[in-house]
Order: sequence, then structure tokens, then C-alpha cells
Amino acid sequence: MQAKTLTYLATTILSIGVSGFGSNVAFADPDPNSMVNQFELTAGKFEGFRRSGAKGVCASGEFVGSPEGRNISSSSAFSGNAIPVIVRFSVGGANPKAADNTKSQRNLALQFNLPNNEVWQMGNISAPVFGAATPEQLFGRLQSLQPDPTTKTADPAKVKAFADANPAVLRQGQYFASKAVPASYALTNYWGVHGFGFTNARNEKVWGKWIFEPVDGVQTLSDEEAKSKGPNFLFDDLRQRVASGKASFNFNIEIAQAGDVLDNATIPLPDGRKKITLGVLKVVSVSPDSTGPCLNITFDPNIMPKGVEGAPDPMLRARTVPYAISLGRRMTEGSKQ
Ligand code: HEM
Repeated sequence: MQAKTLTYLATTILSIGVSGFGSNVAFADPDPNSMVNQFELTAGKFEGFRRSGAKGVCASGEFVGSPEGRNISSSSAFSGNAIPVIVRFSVGGANPKAADNTKSQRNLALQFNLPNNEVWQMGNISAPVFGAATPEQLFGRLQSLQPDPTTKTADPAKVKAFADANPAVLRQGQYFASKAVPASYALTNYWGVHGFGFTNARNEKVWGKWIFEPVDGVQTLSDEEAKSKGPNFLFDDLRQRVASGKASFNFNIEIAQAGDVLDNATIPLPDGRKKITLGVLKVVSVSPDSTGPCLNITFDPNIMPKGVEGAPDPMLRARTVPYAISLGRRMTEGSKQ
């Protein structure tokens, strides 16, 4: 596990190019400290809070793998025994007072505590695509959105020039704008967005992209309902649903076919790919306040168990170091959420 993390650190720092996978994106990573600084410059600095996904709540859950899960991966996550999971739900962005009733990102972060001290971490989002294909593109997009100190808003000409040259950065916003406001953290889909490979005991490998889909289905709010709910309803809604045993997700993987792009988080798999349910995650408790076991975790999606691996997506690898830097800054300031 440690060696794997170090490999990712090394590849991030060495900024190698990617080849042999779908879109063959070449990239040069911005320095991870400058990246976190740019998050603060663009979205604001809120001491003690995560630099992204700031408004969140800790929960705990149990994951039970399915026979289909065992068939595609040798990971102990799919043994069929109940696996304890540390869960964190959040609203996207750096603002700890972000409104719950807008068409924006919701997050589902997970840490599976597996036997033999193995850990599997994920940070999943409520869109099938991320807002940039490479760390470089994310950095440029954030720079273009940085508010001018005098006007306190971004320069529309800069925003347009960058988006015109990098249209992929608009896909995620277009997705959110096309959907209604989620009715609950427990009633929306969460995508892993990157490609992942699964290897079974027979050493057979499949690649795909995963989604956590609510067992009770997706539910949204009309514009009127969203307005009347106000900006802070998601935590209490979640507590109520979990108390009545109504917050479970199918962990589904869509299997990639030859030629599908797996190394670009702005390109979803084509519709209609075969979907397999790897197991069910049930949320069993929610923290009554802003404390809990998720507070000082950074959910690094490069921490995977044996039997699971990430595709060579530059965005995936580039997440480890900025997450660690954000964790370091918020812990030094006094962690909050
Ligand atoms: C180079 C690319 C990226 C950078 C620099 C970045 C940066 C960050 C940072 C600094 C945090 C806060 C970490 C902490 O304090 O614990 C964060 C959280 C998060 N990011 Fe990213 N991110 C990147 C890509 C992505 C992508 C592609 C996704 C899509 C799945 C994503 C989803 C999330 C989620 C769900 C959280 C909240 C996790 C939690 O609850 O702790 N990020 N990100």
C-alpha cells in the first residue's frame, strides 16, 4: 500500500505523459502547493475547512459484497462479510456555508476498513464527469475564475477565453444545470468518474467506471420545493432517512469495451454499457454534530486494495498530494466541517 502511494507521488512529481489508454492526454502537473493556493485564491480561504467539499457530515456504513463482486475482484471488500465504512457526505466547493438547495455538486467520500489493515478510499461526485481533464487544465480554469480584487468577480473575458480554448471544462456545469436539485444525500447518484480495473483470483481483469446508485432511486426537488427547503436541509434529511433504515446504495460498475476512454474524467462511458452490482453500501448512522471519524481523513482515491487499480488518468494521480496538503493546512488551523 505504502509503495503504491509512493509510486503515485513519484509519478505526480515527475509529471510523466500517458499513453496506451483512450485519449492519450499528455500533461505537466502544476506544483501541488500552487494548486491548493489557487483553490484558495479562486474559491476563498476558510480556515480549518477542506479546500474542497468543505460543508460535510460524517456517517458510518456497512458494505456487503455480492457474488458478482467476488467474480470480478479478489479484493476482500467483496468477501460478502459486512465491511465497516467511514462515510462523508458533502456539498461541492470550498464554502462551508454552501447552499444545499442549488443545482451543484454533492459528494460521497468513503473509507472501507478491510481485514489486515487494508484500506480503500474514494471521493465520488454527483456527476458522471469532472470539470477538467488534466491538472494543468484544472489549474488554468481556476486561474480564469479567480475574482479580481477590485470588482470581487472573475473577468468574464478571461473565463470565456479559457473555456473557448478548453470546452471540456464546461461539461460538468452543463450536467448540473440540466438536472434538478437532489432531494437528499441518500437519493442521488455518485460517480467515481475515473476508470478503474478489477482483477479476480483467476488473474482476469476488467476495466470500467463505477457509480453508487440509491437503492430507493433518484429523487429531485422542483424549483419551488428547493426554494422552500432553504439552504440547510441535507444533514437533517440524511439523519432521518438513516434512522428509518432508508439510505442504501448499490455499488455498480459499468464495464468498458475496447476503445472506450478510461483516462479522461471529462468523458463518461457511452450509454448502455453492461452494469454489474458489486455489493450494497448501507449507511447506518450519522454524526449528530460536526465531529466524527471522517473529520481528519483525506479521502485519497489512489488508496485502493489489492484486486483494484486505477486507470492511468492524470487527474486521478494528481489528487494525492493536494489532498495531503489540504489536510495538513486544515489540521494546522484546527479542523472543522
Ligand atoms: C488534480 C485534481 C484535483 C485536485 C487538486 C483536487 C483537490 C481537492 C482538495 C484539496 C480536496 C480537499 C481534501 C481534504 O482537505 O481532505 C478535495 C476534496 C474532494 N475532491 Fe478533489 N481534487 C481534484 C480532483 C477531483 C476529482 C477528479 C474528483 C471527482 C471524483 C474529486 C472529488 C473530490 C471529493 C468528492 C472531495 C471531498 C472528499 C471529502 O469528503 O473529504 N476531486 N479535492
